[in-house]
Amino acid sequence: MNLLKNSKKSIKHKVYIIGAGPGDTELITLKGINVLKKAECVIYDYLVNKDILEYVPITTELINADKARNRYLDNFTKEQDKLNDLIVQKAKEYRTVVRLKNGDPTIFGRLNEEIQSLIKNKIDFEIIPGVTTASSAASFLKIGLTKTKVAPIVSFIAGHENPLSKNSIIDFSKLSQKSTLVFYMAVENLNNIAEKLIGEGWEKDTPFAIVESVGFNYEKKHIGKLKNIKKISNGIKPPAVLLIGDVINYAIKKK
Ligand SMILES: C[S@@+](CC[C@H](N)C(=O)[O-])C[C@H]1O[C@@H](n2cnc3c(N)ncnc32)[C@H](O)[C@@H]1O
Repeated sequence: MNLLKNSKKSIKHKVYIIGAGPGDTELITLKGINVLKKAECVIYDYLVNKDILEYVPITTELINADKARNRYLDNFTKEQDKLNDLIVQKAKEYRTVVRLKNGDPTIFGRLNEEIQSLIKNKIDFEIIPGVTTASSAASFLKIGLTKTKVAPIVSFIAGHENPLSKNSIIDFSKLSQKSTLVFYMAVENLNNIAEKLIGEGWEKDTPFAIVESVGFNYEKKHIGKLKNIKKISNGIKPPAVLLIGDVINYAIKKK
């Protein structure tokens, strides 16, 4: 009986939180692939390119995280709790569980909520980083996100809140013009962001780039100036990122 108890104890269960990169299935790390190959359960986000799941053994349980949490409900925090519980439940069931996130898991990925839940439940975990959309979009544009003297700062910003609303928690007056701003989740607010920055004294001619579906073979870029963003913002389809700042001037205008 004791032997059985001890052997049960020695089986290690672990959750690997892996960044899949945006779109392109070759942007995942080798380390990430090696873990996927031995995963018994994979809980993946809706933005992950599903082709990446080909690395997973056929016996692996595959769970779409966005079926466990409804991202369109107002109380998303409660929905996220459901997902946190599911990860814990699967970690007790299987030795190797992968939580597969789009891009890099440390950026806009509800990572801290999931980690806190794992810690609370005494479940071992490891984070394997990935390429974030900002880096991949910059590569597609053939620019660096930073440049000495021009943009010594780069900011990753959540763009889902309307910056023109009084309740916005981001203080746009603090954003440096000597920087590159990268707005994630901003498709609904492209024009509002430009308007807000101009209101804060940014030049109307400041260049921007919007990159849709980064890493997919249909990825698309739109380059312009803040004053003209309205013209194209209606046709933009998610997922997309908005980059603003003088480094965009180095982007190749035509593909
Ligand atoms: C919840 S955030 C996840 C970000 C992700 N963790 C990362 O590091 O890229 C989702 C947002 O990331 C951006 N995004 C993710 N994948 C993308 C892609 N393939 N093309 C363009 N934008 C993408 C979009 O702004 C989208 O609204």
